[in-house]
Amino acid sequence: MPNLDRRSFTTLTGLAGLAALVSPSRTLASNASQAAAAPTAASAAGAKNRALRFAHFTDLHITPDRDSEPGMKLAFEAAQADGIEMILTGGDLIMDSFAAKREQVDREWALLHKLFREHCRVPVEHCLGNHDIFGFCLSKAGLKGDEPDFGYARPVAELGLSGRWRSFDRNGWHFIVLSSVERDPKDECGYLAYLTDEQRAWLEADLAATKLPTVVVSHVPIITVTPAVRGGETERKNDQTVISGGLVHLDAPTVHGVFRKAGNVKLVLSGHTHLIDRCVADGVTYCCSGAVCGGWWRPHKTYCEPTYALIDLFVDGSFDYAIKPTGWTNR
Ligand SMILES: [Fe+2]
Repeated sequence: MPNLDRRSFTTLTGLAGLAALVSPSRTLASNASQAAAAPTAASAAGAKNRALRFAHFTDLHITPDRDSEPGMKLAFEAAQADGIEMILTGGDLIMDSFAAKREQVDREWALLHKLFREHCRVPVEHCLGNHDIFGFCLSKAGLKGDEPDFGYARPVAELGLSGRWRSFDRNGWHFIVLSSVERDPKDECGYLAYLTDEQRAWLEADLAATKLPTVVVSHVPIITVTPAVRGGETERKNDQTVISGGLVHLDAPTVHGVFRKAGNVKLVLSGHTHLIDRCVADGVTYCCSGAVCGGWWRPHKTYCEPTYALIDLFVDGSFDYAIKPTGWTNR
C-alpha cells in the first residue's frame, strides 16, 4: 500500500490511454492473455501443456495485531487446494516496518516466518514492498539510518534473498523480481517508485540474456488503471490528473519500453493498490492482483476483499490468470 502521508507527486496524464480495465471480477479471464501470447494452433485447439501453476500473493501485511493468522491460513489452504507449485509474493509482506519501532517489526517478521513454516508446502519466491523496508522513516522508526539492518538490509536478510532484485528460471519460464521503492529526497517519510540506473541496466542485461517467456513481479504497478478507480492519491491540478510518484512507477514509459524491446515479457504482476485490474499494452499484460489482506485485515469499502491470483503458465508462452478469493472475510 502507499504511504498516505507522502506528498511527492508526478503527472502521468495520458497513461490511462495506454491501458484498458479488464475483468475486475473473480472469474477466470484468459482471453486477453491468449491474445497477448499468440498461442500456437495446438493451444488454440485447447491442447496446451501447462508448465507451471503458481499463486501471486501480494500485500499480506502480516501482523499479530489483526486477523492475519486465520486469514493467511485460509489463503494458503485455498491456493494449495488449487494445486499450485509455487508462491510468488508481491511485497508488503508484513504490516509495516517503514515507520515502525524495532520491537513491532520483530513481532511481525516472527509471525510471517511462523505462518510460512506451518502452512506453506510449496517453494516461495519473495518480492519486497515499501512496507518491508526497515526504518526509511527515521523519526517514526526511532532509527539513525546507520544500523546494519536499516533499509533493505533487514528484509533481504529475513528472507535469505540474494539481493533486492533478481531473476530465476522455473519450468521453462523466466521470472524477474524487481525492487522499485526508493527514498524520496524531499520527504523523510515518503518514497518514490522507479528503477535506479543500476537496476534498469541489470534488467536490460537480464532480459537480453534469455529467450524464455518471462513473468515480471514489481510491488508498485508499472502500468495500472487503479488510480482512476480508487482516487485518494490522485488529484486534479491545473486540469491535469496528478498521480503520486509512490503509487505508480514514475518511469513507466521507460520500463515498458525495455519490456517491448525484449519482446518476451508476457505478464507483469503487481500489488500495492489493494485493487484488481488487468491492462494489456502492446502485447504486455499488467495485472494488479488485489491483496491477500484485502483492506489491511479490516472491513473496507474502497479496497478489494482478500484475494490472490492463480496463474497457469503454458509451454507455448501463453498463460491464464484468475483472481481468487482466499476464503477469509475481514471482520
Ligand atoms: Fe500494501
